[in-house]
Amino acid sequence: MDQQEKRELILKTFAERYTCKGYDETKKVSDEDFKVIMEAARLSPSSMGLEPWKFLLINNEKIKARLKPVAWGAQASLAGASHFVIILARKPLDLTYNSAYVEYIMNDIQHFEEPLRGERKNKLKDFQENDLKIAADDHLFFDWSVRQTYISLANMLTAAAMLGVDSTPMEGFNYAAVEKILEEENVLDKAHFGLAAMIAFGYKNRDHRPKTRRPMAEIFEVID
Ligand SMILES: Cc1cc2nc3c(=O)[nH]c(=O)nc-3n(C[C@H](O)[C@H](O)[C@H](O)COP(=O)(O)O)c2cc1C
Repeated sequence: MDQQEKRELILKTFAERYTCKGYDETKKVSDEDFKVIMEAARLSPSSMGLEPWKFLLINNEKIKARLKPVAWGAQASLAGASHFVIILARKPLDLTYNSAYVEYIMNDIQHFEEPLRGERKNKLKDFQENDLKIAADDHLFFDWSVRQTYISLANMLTAAAMLGVDSTPMEGFNYAAVEKILEEENVLDKAHFGLAAMIAFGYKNRDHRPKTRRPMAEIFEVID
């Protein structure tokens, strides 16, 4: 593929991606396609590479039925989507610079050796306490974690679009009610994770509205 073909593919993918509001329940996304979509999530970037996410593929019909009354933005997805995924974000307990989870990431995953590992932890401490100023506020801290899960969400949307799979990003639900259900169903450990967003995949059963966006000149400014 030459450079011009790459440009066209990117623009076509983003122009054609849209939020699916009605799924054909008889059509299933293939395992091969879903695996690629999940890889797009796994390979997403995160601050200091802490990968503060977890993805729950909800195949359980009882859980879906319990989510319906408290997830107004997920009605179409819960009814007919092929794959329904809940994105969880790590809590401050895991993301604070001296946690067991940070040690696991920096040692077992990133293979940083001492003294570099210690230096990176100190950098993370300073970043969280003095730059982001999130260390003393659990809500701000968790929000920092959630922000990063949205990068994986976006990459999943784009990967799906490239594969011709329709998708729906979602935050239209009552967070406390959904968390309570997930806790009761033993799929959420609230000490370590909180709810970030949801995303569904499948194939549409109706046409969607044409895409609307503000002009580039309204959102982009060059500062010389
Ligand atoms: C973070 C986020 C949350 C959203 N929540 C919902 C939702 O709960 N239900 C829904 O049907 N659409 C939801 N949307 C879809 C938006 O309404 C949609 O992206 C927007 O109107 C632009 O349309 P497009 O995606 O078709 O280009 C959400 C989108 C984003 C990015």
